[in-house]
Amino acid sequence: MSMDWMARAVPQTAGLYPYVPGKPVETLLREKGLSRAVKLASNENPYGPSPKAVIAMQNAAAGVNRYPDGDANLLKEALAAFHHVNRDQLLLGNGSNEVLDILIRTFAGAGDEVVFSSRGFIVYALAAQAAGATSVSIPEADGLTHDLDAMAAAVTEKTKVVCVANPNNPTGTLHGNSALQAFLDKLPRNVVVIIDEAYYEFVADEQGDSVHELSHPGLVISRTFSKAYGLAGCRVGYAIADAQIVALANRYREPFNLNLLAQVAAVAALDDREWVMARVADNNSQRERLESALKTLGLLGGRCFGNFVLLQHSQCAEILRRLEDRGIIPRPLAPYGMADYLRISVGSAEENSEFLQGLNLILAELQE
Ligand SMILES: Cc1ncc(COP(=O)(O)O)c(C=O)c1O
Repeated sequence: MSMDWMARAVPQTAGLYPYVPGKPVETLLREKGLSRAVKLASNENPYGPSPKAVIAMQNAAAGVNRYPDGDANLLKEALAAFHHVNRDQLLLGNGSNEVLDILIRTFAGAGDEVVFSSRGFIVYALAAQAAGATSVSIPEADGLTHDLDAMAAAVTEKTKVVCVANPNNPTGTLHGNSALQAFLDKLPRNVVVIIDEAYYEFVADEQGDSVHELSHPGLVISRTFSKAYGLAGCRVGYAIADAQIVALANRYREPFNLNLLAQVAAVAALDDREWVMARVADNNSQRERLESALKTLGLLGGRCFGNFVLLQHSQCAEILRRLEDRGIIPRPLAPYGMADYLRISVGSAEENSEFLQGLNLILAELQE
């Protein structure tokens, strides 16, 4: 008789499921027998990383027989100087995903509550579940925007962590620093408040310097090299927080969680401001182009900040299938209860043209 391993797993496993990423290009090519595909499903940077980061990785590649620096000293020094913070305020992770997971596990366990927005980035719910904590999921007032008042009102004595994605993925909404500060002022001082700024670089002009303009004892600002810096495949994220919060979270961090190539790539990418600012400008103009095209078609699902746009249509499942038939991979949002939406990552100018041409043809087909 085979063993029932679920009965042996920790209790929260039953309510957990693996994160479902955007469909990889290789999977679509295999499924559809295609020779090329355009992936607009994971909010990646279509331009690649800074060439300086590539050279840094090439130069370091022969040294991977050695373990990396477990404290990532050079990267911490670079980030501390860049943000004007102390190095002991920096928590580094294998992607900001790991940073979020470690922080939630450090502060929330059985009987504790983690508050987030229902259509906030899905990893908060997964991390809370994995930690055995209770998720408190607050509906958006308008279906898209975090309801900060309701979130603050949901905080109880049991609340250990509050997560705000700003801009949010997948809804693309942004709160300015004054709204965020008013929210922070309503929260108890002993709650950890994660402001997840994975898309910060794309909105830096609108947002301002959140690291120095926001204040709360439990404030954690989380950032990533996966989006504007184009290093999603390297997995580098970090958080800036009170030094004691960082020290406690470091107890849960795996040894050598930032691999050697990731560390050198991130240092080089951070140093190449010119490159990242140029890519941010490219992204933002292409995002405006996609938004105005979707608006003209009457399909714009809302104003998005970041590197993605929302398409809203009652036949999204069919549009998804037909886009994939053409080798274009968007992200379905049914897992967020948004079955009428597709999230389209902003690609290069050519990729966006391909998407818009495909979409126009599909819309014509659906009208036949
Ligand atoms: C809002 C948000 N936070 C965090 C992440 C995690 O990114 P990474 O682990 O690549 O840093 C993502 C990725 O899409 C995101 O959209």
